[in-house]
Amino acid sequence: MFLQWAFLISSATLISAGSLSNWERIVGGQPANISEVPWQASLEVDGEHDCGAVIFSDQILITAAHCVRRRNLKVYSVRVGSSKPNQGGQLVKIAGVMRNERNTNDIAVIRLKTKLQLGDSVRPIPLADKDPADGASALVSGWGRIKYQGSVAKTLLKVTVNIVNRRVCSASYGYIARDQICAAAPGKDSCQGDSGGPLVSDGKLVGIVSTGNGCALPHFPGIYVNVARIRPWIDNAIKSLM
Ligand code: ARG
Repeated sequence: MFLQWAFLISSATLISAGSLSNWERIVGGQPANISEVPWQASLEVDGEHDCGAVIFSDQILITAAHCVRRRNLKVYSVRVGSSKPNQGGQLVKIAGVMRNERNTNDIAVIRLKTKLQLGDSVRPIPLADKDPADGASALVSGWGRIKYQGSVAKTLLKVTVNIVNRRVCSASYGYIARDQICAAAPGKDSCQGDSGGPLVSDGKLVGIVSTGNGCALPHFPGIYVNVARIRPWIDNAIKSLM
């Protein structure tokens, strides 16, 4: 009880000091230039940012399965090489999609109609081939919401989180599959609109933003597709799209 009051009083102090906006930022994030995370792409639906995606090669991207459920691929486009949502960089249409239909495997592979021009702000990221260690630091980025049910970001944001032990994460959610991986840090998380985007540790793609309870809630880590585990599926999906 005392602690709750102490918390209320200190938040009131923060609000009056005008520092709340610092505090709310994508659940703890900072603005990023696309050249810091050149593998980050935006998946647009009817010209509006909808999800994140990750550059695997000049013609293949990876995203979350729940981001590409529409049958009509014409609604989609992929934007790369820009720090701003819905403007700048290169905009490319989608030629084909392969979705993983198992529900814990929230992953899909996209083939583009035309090749990306690679450069300092448009670059593929290698996939992890083994699970990152518990506690390893990992960077997640995106144009998603800056708090649960809050407004979307006007520029790219990045935040550093830590890989959470699977049993600890399972205890929070009841069950976490081998194909999933959890990451969290106090007051930091990915959020709605970041789905399909990259979780990168040690220069490798270790996760794809998938789901979670709220955003940055204590005891509820963000849930990501575990890239190292799902790699055989990714390799096959890419082959079948080429
Ligand atoms: N499902 C969300 C999306 O479509 C991503 C949620 C991530 N949540 C989290 N707490 N990390 O954008």
